[in-house]
Amino acid sequence: MLKIEDLTVEVNGKLLLHDVNLEVKKGYTNVLFGPNGAGKSALMRTIMGFSEYRVVKGRILFNGKDITELPVDERARLGLGIMMQRPPDMSGIKLKDLVKVLSKGTNPETLVKNLDMKRFMDRDVNVGFSGGEIKRSELLQLAAQNPSLYLLDEPESGVDLVSIEQVGMTIKGLLEEGLNCPGESCEKGKSALIITHTGQVLDYVNADRGYILCNGTVMCSGNPLKMLEEIKSRGYEECIKCRLMK
Ligand SMILES: Nc1ncnc2c1ncn2[C@@H]1O[C@H](COP(=O)(O)OP(=O)(O)OP(=O)(O)O)[C@@H](O)[C@H]1O
Ligand SMILES: [Mg+2]
Repeated sequence: MLKIEDLTVEVNGKLLLHDVNLEVKKGYTNVLFGPNGAGKSALMRTIMGFSEYRVVKGRILFNGKDITELPVDERARLGLGIMMQRPPDMSGIKLKDLVKVLSKGTNPETLVKNLDMKRFMDRDVNVGFSGGEIKRSELLQLAAQNPSLYLLDEPESGVDLVSIEQVGMTIKGLLEEGLNCPGESCEKGKSALIITHTGQVLDYVNADRGYILCNGTVMCSGNPLKMLEEIKSRGYEECIKCRLMK
């Protein structure tokens, strides 16, 4: 579904990513690990098409179509959707109005209930929201869009230990059960690329493949749960060493 080939990206003349190769097959959930500043969010934002990220080499394919030069709205219409690590506040725009505009054959009421967002619907998007509330607001907006590929940038960071179950189960419901669509109108088995540091989201979602991004490039890939254990016990050093020895 998503194929990234030799992707090299710069921002303001600074090289952030180089020769990145990565793919997500239809119905698969892949995970992106890596230390702070590795370029994980930059990669997600490049896939989504944020204009400050300039692709200087390589390409991004989505369902076989080259989307490297497409603007962000066209990518969204094709079925790409992002839950940002740090989304902006939107003064003057109520969450309920944004969700209404974004909704694409979805049933926001179920999502609002699942994510306990009713009391936020009349407030301006993210303005004054706590860290955890922003994550739930972001997930609600994304789920309303009903993308076929979910790009989730640290969905659990800042979410308390009780709400993590709510967020984790909602993500599982979205990816595996079509939670956001009434009846059978929604295709099940969505694809996802998830960035996580702690791996908490993987307690709820079955992940198929993991990638480790260091210094702006993919160093290795493999079983995501095994990778997480390795990172927890040995950090990222082994991956870098292993790559250098190849
Ligand atoms: N617009 C920009 N201008 C200059 N540098 C940038 C810009 N965007 C990102 N960077 C730099 O690129 C590097 C990668 O940033 P990125 O946000 O992708 O890291 P990350 O892997 O997501 O880290 P974290 O785990 O902390 O979220 C960082 O050093 C960051 O400061
Ligand atoms: Mg990041």
